Amino acid sequence: MKYLLGLDVGTSGAKALLIDQEGTVVTDSIVTYPLLTPRPGWAEQHPQQWWQASYTAIANTVREAGVSPSHIAGVGLSGQMHGSVFLDADNQVIRPAILWCDQRTAAQCEWITEKIGAEAIVAETCNPVLTGFQAPKIIWLRDNEPDNYAKVAKLLLPKDYIRFMLTGEFATEVSDASGTSLLNVPRRRWSQVMLDGLELEESLLPKVHESPEVTGRINAEAADLTGLAEGTGVVGGGGDQAAGAVGNGIVAPGSISVTTGTSGVVFAYLDEPIMDEQLRTHTFCHAVPGKWHVMGAMLSAGGSLRWLRDSLCGEEVALAADMGVDPYEVMTAQAETAPVGCDGLLFLPYLTGERCPYPDPDARGVFFGLNLTHSKPDLIRAVLEGVAFGLRDCFDLIKDLGVEFTQVRASGGGARSKLWRQIQADALRHDISTINVDEGAAYGVALLAAVGAEIYPTVQAATDAAISVVDTLAPDPEAVDVYEDYYALYRRLYVALADEFDQVAKLT
Ligand code: XUL
Repeated sequence: MKYLLGLDVGTSGAKALLIDQEGTVVTDSIVTYPLLTPRPGWAEQHPQQWWQASYTAIANTVREAGVSPSHIAGVGLSGQMHGSVFLDADNQVIRPAILWCDQRTAAQCEWITEKIGAEAIVAETCNPVLTGFQAPKIIWLRDNEPDNYAKVAKLLLPKDYIRFMLTGEFATEVSDASGTSLLNVPRRRWSQVMLDGLELEESLLPKVHESPEVTGRINAEAADLTGLAEGTGVVGGGGDQAAGAVGNGIVAPGSISVTTGTSGVVFAYLDEPIMDEQLRTHTFCHAVPGKWHVMGAMLSAGGSLRWLRDSLCGEEVALAADMGVDPYEVMTAQAETAPVGCDGLLFLPYLTGERCPYPDPDARGVFFGLNLTHSKPDLIRAVLEGVAFGLRDCFDLIKDLGVEFTQVRASGGGARSKLWRQIQADALRHDISTINVDEGAAYGVALLAAVGAEIYPTVQAATDAAISVVDTLAPDPEAVDVYEDYYALYRRLYVALADEFDQVAKLT
């Protein structure tokens, strides 16, 4: 039997996961690290902490699995997208990495859009330049820390820094590179138009591969630290969304995924790069060679429920601790006692602003329609329903692009709740299926490593072997009817409040 290792360098920690060649999970290990917020709206991490967490998580996994390192046929890397690592000529980290959720670059986004032109940017990169993306961070460094900028010899995305530490190679792959604003997404190579416009040398960037390609091999020092065998191949891997989609089997026409983690993402495979006219969704290269994907991302999905748990559900947390269960189980059991539509209570889930369908950093969360009959079960259910309506916004945009599908697969922490999956089926008006594994991006890149190691000829062959549907919930026609009216009201509320969100942002 051969084994494959997937590593996901996430925002809260590094997760290593070992699977066998049939896709069965052997063991995993997560090592966490802090998120630094030196100023409001800034988000940074030390790449050295990613590296320590990554080699420790890999070493734990290899040790606990008890398999011979020579039987580990390949490694796949995934990670938080869009972040920028700055290395000097001696390959040393110059300053902390600036992350995907950092909002400091609004002025740079505007400057880039003016300098190159919105149309040319979309033609090259299929997306607008957004504050989270990598290119504006590079320009921010040039504008604000010229001494640091003068030292820059290489610019890397988070997982690609770990690749460098594991293999000594400067390489990336198309799915993660799509979130830099520097890749020609239709042609799957660095964009000369973007590089020339920003006066950046291509030599600053790593070589671009397709996701299942072997990009380098574990070197002696990394072998010592991780317990992997020197020479083990490391494939391109993928940005966390594309990698997670591989882990959900979204690698061919026919199915789309709805992932409820901190954020909520609706993800569809594309044969050709197509875009929402108003650019409310992202069109990126997929981790399937020569293919693309479109996704709509809402920022606070599971994050909204976590906020409710932490701010209002102390009693439920204590009860769950006594019962030895997850607090969300106690909360969703309460929500089950509230009626569909919560007797007129709606929740807008814009606690951290929004990205899709409203790119609005100033949008805020709202409970609307409270009356004296409402109590905590209604508040909890309203959050579950409001997030499902936000997912419906993303889902409808993707349907409007003409993407054809028959199956919707739910994944992420939120998919563990049967009630939340049912609410999603009712709000989306579609069957919702779950699959046999829910290990996210690390699982997806372990499957890509199996393709790189030639265990499977294609990404789809790997996912067909490993992934199957285990459960499907159909929408309840009565709830669908109720939600149609509530969803229409939910849509009107953002429109009615957009200016008020601006006002409240100014006040605070
Ligand atoms: C994708 C995105 C997030 C980050 C962090 O566009 O911003 O998925 O990669 O997880």
